[in-house]
Amino acid sequence: MTSKITIAIDGFSSTGKSTLAKQLAKELGYVYVDTGAMYRAIALFAMQNGYITEEFFDKESLIHSLPFIRLQFEYKPELGFAIMIMNDMDVEKEIRTIEVSGFVSKIATVDEVRAKLVEQQQEMGKGKGIVMDGRDIGTVVFPDAELKIYMTATAETRAQRRFDELTQKGDAVTYEEVYANVVERDYIDTHRANSPLVKAPDAIEIDNSDMTREEQLALVLALVQKANS
Ligand code: DC
Repeated sequence: MTSKITIAIDGFSSTGKSTLAKQLAKELGYVYVDTGAMYRAIALFAMQNGYITEEFFDKESLIHSLPFIRLQFEYKPELGFAIMIMNDMDVEKEIRTIEVSGFVSKIATVDEVRAKLVEQQQEMGKGKGIVMDGRDIGTVVFPDAELKIYMTATAETRAQRRFDELTQKGDAVTYEEVYANVVERDYIDTHRANSPLVKAPDAIEIDNSDMTREEQLALVLALVQKANS
C-alpha cells in the first residue's frame, strides 16, 4: 500500500508548474494548491483599493487590510481544478491578467503577506496527499516534503507559452510585453529578501524546455513512486 505524500513544485513563472501539478493531482487523487493564485488575489485586492499603482505602493494600508481578505479555493469538477474565491467573489479570471502579473511580485515581497499565506498553505497541507506549486514550497512552506521538484525552462520558451495562453484567451498583449514581464518577475522573485526563489538542496531539477507534457508527467510519476517506496 502506498501512503500519501507531500509534493512541492517550485520554479520560475510559466515553467508549466501548474500543468504538471494538476496532472499529478488527477493521477494520484491528491489536492492541488496553486499558491501563485493566492498572491495574485492579494495583488488584485491592492489594485482594486488603489493601494498599488505604477507610481506608488501603500504597503501599510495593504498590511492593515490583510485580516479582511479571505481566500478560499473552490473545486470545480467541470474544470478539473479549484478556482480562487476572494471575499466570496470568484476572481479566477481577474487574477490571471497581465496587469495583475505586473504587480504581483511586488506584493509577494511583503513579509506580512507571506506570513499570512504560508500559514494558510501549511494548514491546507496538514493531511498530506497534496501537490502545491509556487516559489517557496520546498524551502519554506513544506521543507520536509517527501518530493520536491524545481522546474526551469528558458525565458524565451516561458514567454512564448505565456503569450500563447494570453492571446488564446483574447488578451491584447505583445510577445515583447510578456517577455519583459517574465524577466522582471524572475529578477524580483529571486532577489527579494524574504523567501526568494531558490532550489532546495534536496529538490530534483527538471528543465522542460524540450519535453512534452506526457514525458514530464511520466518522469515525475516515477519519482513519486520512488519517494513512496
Ligand atoms: O505562479 P504565479 O506566476 O501565478 O505566481 C505569481 C507571483 O506570486 C510570482 O511572481 C511570485 C509570487 N509567488 C511567491 O512569491 N510565492 C509563491 N509561493 C507563489 C507565488
